[in-house]
Amino acid sequence: MPEAAHIAPSTQTLTPEEAESYYFKINPAPPSLQEHHELAKEFIDRHVKSGRRLVLVTSGGTTVPLETQTVRFVDNFSAGTRGATSAEYFLQEGYAVIFLHRQFSLLPYSRHFSHSTNCFLDFMDEGSSSSTTSSSSTGKNNNNENDHGPIIVRSEYQDEMRKVLRQYNYAKANNLLLVLPFVTVTEYLYELRSLAYLMKPLGPNALFYLAAAVSDFFIPRDRMVEHKIQSSNEPPVKKENKDQTGTDSSIPPDSIYTGFNDPVPPTHGKKLIIDLDPVPKFLHRLVDGWAPAGSMVVSFKLETDPDLLISKSEQALQRYSHHLVIGNLLSTRKWEVVFVSRDKATGEFGLKWIRVPKSSTRMRKGSVAASGGGTHLQPDVEIESLIIPELKKAHSQMIESAAKGTHEGK
Ligand code: PMT
Repeated sequence: MPEAAHIAPSTQTLTPEEAESYYFKINPAPPSLQEHHELAKEFIDRHVKSGRRLVLVTSGGTTVPLETQTVRFVDNFSAGTRGATSAEYFLQEGYAVIFLHRQFSLLPYSRHFSHSTNCFLDFMDEGSSSSTTSSSSTGKNNNNENDHGPIIVRSEYQDEMRKVLRQYNYAKANNLLLVLPFVTVTEYLYELRSLAYLMKPLGPNALFYLAAAVSDFFIPRDRMVEHKIQSSNEPPVKKENKDQTGTDSSIPPDSIYTGFNDPVPPTHGKKLIIDLDPVPKFLHRLVDGWAPAGSMVVSFKLETDPDLLISKSEQALQRYSHHLVIGNLLSTRKWEVVFVSRDKATGEFGLKWIRVPKSSTRMRKGSVAASGGGTHLQPDVEIESLIIPELKKAHSQMIESAAKGTHEGK
């Protein structure tokens, strides 16, 4: 890695405003930011006029590139299930939704028919043409180009697909869903800041639902190498050293990796030690500066150790003074979550567990991202169907008290 271009200040010693200005100065904005800004402005303005509530749902993992021309990156497990599922329930509850998601993670509605668990092709069939019966019913591969029937949804999936399709079409026809992608942690942070500022005119009608799994560590742009990090110290092959067979005679044979036929792989591989900086926690700036006055901010806390979940969630509330932390454990996140809140007057914490009934269990194939596949127990009831109505109630209370405050203030 090259020497740092300048000495980075320790983020510990910076105020949240200084950390923001430093971060956005040294890490360039994504090229799509302006286009997303325009799309979001139009979307938000429309819903400000209609008086509808609007939620920004963040979803999926963020990548941490190791090279500017990125070949390798650090990533995390999140498939975007929480975000995509929640977005659907928010729409059902009457919210307009900006869905800021990691590119290629799960999307609202299409999630029912995508990824390895539910390949969309399995839902379809070729209907019979004048001279054939359905190809899957005959088990034959019908490649006759002039002899084809219409593509149809298989009868056992008609009801489910009709329901999802209607919901999707309703959201689309009424401009209720705006889908914006990001990839890296820096792209995510630029987009989050830009959207939060645009949401200012929504006031208390705005809700932030931060379900994305945001990286805590990254490589700042001024310490990032441009080209692919090499895995060995061998000098590049020079043409003049090649013998008649095209083999480079200057490289010892055991240094050339030729695939799995090698009895022993080369022993000269380099260790890769990655030196990551902390990503400043921008929740502070979101609450104190970027988000509209009176809006509701809900963050998630993910832990793997049950003994830490509550204390870390309480700590986050204390530190960032937002409204709610939804705590979840990696292994049980589809079964239970805990709402952690804090009474502003007394400072006391309140806990409310939301659980899917244990009886609602079925075997379903596991998702690729979380587990590498396999069969897992999954609840039949989506926990988001319980989370979102509960959140809507809390948001309604905030909106009411904001209205009372304005009324009494007059
Ligand atoms: O997508 P799924 O597979 O369904 O998984 C869902 C989920 C487990 C990812 C989701 O439910 C969840 O818990 N998301 C938040 C995970 C997370 O980032 O937790 P954290 O403890 O690292 O961060 C807590 C909060 O700080 C987050 O709301 C995040 O927005 C914020 N944060 C995090 C890092 C960072 N650098 N700056 C931040 O502001």
